[in-house]
Amino acid sequence: MSAAELTRSVWDVNADDYSADAPFGERLRFLLRYAILAPSSHNSQPWRFRIEGRAVHVAADESRWLRAADPDRRELFVSLGCAVENLVVAAEHFGFDPAVSYPDGGTERIATVTMDDGASERRPAAPFDELTARYTSHERFDGTPLDSPTRNRLVAAVEGAPVALHLVNGDAKRAVGELQAEADRLQMKNRAYREELGHWIGLGALGHSWLLARVGQAVVAHLDIGDREAAKNSVLVESAPVVGVLTTASDDPAARVGTGRAFERVALRASAAGVAVHPMSQILERPALRRRLASELDFDGATPQHLFRLGYADEAAEDTPRWPVESVLDGE
Ligand SMILES: Cc1cc2nc3c(=O)[nH]c(=O)nc-3n(C[C@H](O)[C@H](O)[C@H](O)COP(=O)(O)O)c2cc1C
Repeated sequence: MSAAELTRSVWDVNADDYSADAPFGERLRFLLRYAILAPSSHNSQPWRFRIEGRAVHVAADESRWLRAADPDRRELFVSLGCAVENLVVAAEHFGFDPAVSYPDGGTERIATVTMDDGASERRPAAPFDELTARYTSHERFDGTPLDSPTRNRLVAAVEGAPVALHLVNGDAKRAVGELQAEADRLQMKNRAYREELGHWIGLGALGHSWLLARVGQAVVAHLDIGDREAAKNSVLVESAPVVGVLTTASDDPAARVGTGRAFERVALRASAAGVAVHPMSQILERPALRRRLASELDFDGATPQHLFRLGYADEAAEDTPRWPVESVLDGE
């Protein structure tokens, strides 16, 4: 993996360049240009793809697994689920009828997306145009509440998925803010975590704003910035009208991939509605805090898999870079 290959030009993908007459493999390669625009933890993009006939196999790239932040690989699988969902949304847009299977329970081969040719009767699962418009917002939100129709639209995005979306506000959200501050302090005390974050910031994966931000320099300089991160993130949680939490009944790789798929659907719908989205993973990265979150928010025994702020921000973020399709495609 090399920093030189990371590029923002991937965002210029244009649906008009898709040719329905092109050979099947070429068309599937085109769909992958949308898959790689998916969000991922630290923008690590831990995916590998292989095209075989009508199938696209999705596997994990363990060299991009965040060992310090994500020892149990939850974020790895959630990130892969986001890429699977982008692939599905793009496939539906171009008239395929994609079917997703999890061949070995989703450990080695994370998922296989098989494309039936011919126009699907179903409506697209999410707005296709948002694949190139969605981004993560790190801004303070302006406090405007999410009205009921918007909340309902986001909850409907996970209908039929083995995943529940909880929209948290009021006292429960205050509890999330306190846990977030605790998690930031703990993570920033962890040298391996700081060094890993510094590595990804240094690569430029998180974009210029991160690279130039004080946090980037401080991480590299090994300062104890836990208190500053905690204070900053408390304000961010406070500014959000709602925190979203996705939970699953089981806690296996397939549930986590399913979480990523559901999250990406929510993120694409939020993008269409002008709602900003900001994942915050630190609570879930600390097992004791993850358990406290589950008990304080009373998820009825379900496991929290992904947490994110939802709200309205004034400024759009700049595009983050990606490794292009050719560098994540096997067997070509
Ligand atoms: C599983 C997962 C966990 C994430 N955790 C965080 C986080 O803790 N803090 C944060 O600022 N962004 C987080 N993100 C957002 C990524 O940093 C972001 O997706 C990536 O930098 C690419 O940028 P983009 O979403 O704007 O395309 C997470 C994303 C995913 C999929």
